[in-house]
Amino acid sequence: MNNKVEKVTGGLNGTIKVPGDKSISHRAVMFGAIANGTTTIEGFLPGDDCLSTIDCFQKLGVQIEASGDKVKVDGKGWSGLVEPTEILDVGNSGTTTRLMLGILATRPFHSVVIGDASIAKRPMSRVTEPLRQMGATIDGRNNGDLTPLSIRGGHTSGIDFTSKVASAQVKSSILLAGLQSEGVTSVTEPHLSRDHTERMLQAFGVDVQREGLTVSVKGGQELTSQHIVVPGDISSAAFFLVAGAIVPSSRIVLENVGVNPTRTGIIDVLQQMGANLELMNERETNGEPVADLVISTSELQGCEIDGDIIPRLIDEIPVIAVLATQAQGKTVIRDAEELKVKETNRIDTVVSELKKLGAKIEATDDGMIIEGPVQLQGNTVNSHGDHRIGMAMAIAGCIANGNVTVENSGAIAVSYPNFFEHINNLK
Ligand code: S3P
Repeated sequence: MNNKVEKVTGGLNGTIKVPGDKSISHRAVMFGAIANGTTTIEGFLPGDDCLSTIDCFQKLGVQIEASGDKVKVDGKGWSGLVEPTEILDVGNSGTTTRLMLGILATRPFHSVVIGDASIAKRPMSRVTEPLRQMGATIDGRNNGDLTPLSIRGGHTSGIDFTSKVASAQVKSSILLAGLQSEGVTSVTEPHLSRDHTERMLQAFGVDVQREGLTVSVKGGQELTSQHIVVPGDISSAAFFLVAGAIVPSSRIVLENVGVNPTRTGIIDVLQQMGANLELMNERETNGEPVADLVISTSELQGCEIDGDIIPRLIDEIPVIAVLATQAQGKTVIRDAEELKVKETNRIDTVVSELKKLGAKIEATDDGMIIEGPVQLQGNTVNSHGDHRIGMAMAIAGCIANGNVTVENSGAIAVSYPNFFEHINNLK
């Protein structure tokens, strides 16, 4: 599938409600599946990734009904999960793979986990090694680093795990295993990664302790079903925040966006670059902060992005690169080597595709350097099967002279099925 994006001439104006948060949607289904009782979810993201999570947990014996953004999960506790007769297919979803492995690590049965060509390249030993240390039996290609993986859970013991990477998927996987392991499990990370697991486990009645960068849970804990309202995904809103900032004569209101501080690096960067961005109506749902965001066009300055902020905006870097092409001066992104193990190697894909549009951008070992402002030119680019690359290129298309054709744009349905409809609504 291809999408042709034309230059926007009259600005992007209006109000949109971005789809539900992907991280929170996955967790709501998974935690509902292991909880006792019926969990109801509102504002669920019906994107391909979260539908993969539903499919896997249905194959694990959980009754789940989904209709649009409403989901009902009939949890029967941890022991409600049963040995699947079919292979668990995670599609393109790293979150499904890593969090589900943590849940399966303590279940006394065998499962096989497989995903698409992108998943087959992504490192899983960051979770399979600690889960093995806890007592799970896991095998797979490259000694259990790559899918297909087979896992037989069983009697597991808590560990104190120090992760080399700031990864919410690693942290969550180990904590989930810890909930059904003997003793206490703790995870320490180098920088704080998104903390939706900690917040939502608490909402499901679990005791979670945090001390600095260490989170711990005691074994033997059960979850109690909840009603979860999922806020809009700031990672999806990011495309329109950037569009609003760089497309001349724009003003976009993004309603009901999750503004958990572990996710708001994009807001900090936009403000540092000089964007006209306001947070309105700040409130809280299910322990998650939410706000309406208002962005309008402005002059922008390049900036440096590194250190602690990186995990707070890691998924937004493709569209931040587009933003930087329109800012005055250099934008330098460092400490972002994790980009290499996302849905694609996002240092390579961002740099190669933006170069096709005439951007001044160079890859570095741990990030990229972008110089602006540059008038982008139309061309044919490719998402490489990566939803965020596809959307970032479409936003670049809104300001390029001449059309930008995004090849392989079907991947966008992973996190934002109605993305192009929303662009058109704002024209
Ligand atoms: C996610 C964590 C992040 C993020 C991904 C979603 C999650 O990955 O990039 O899109 O839901 O926990 P890492 O844990 O690999 O950093």
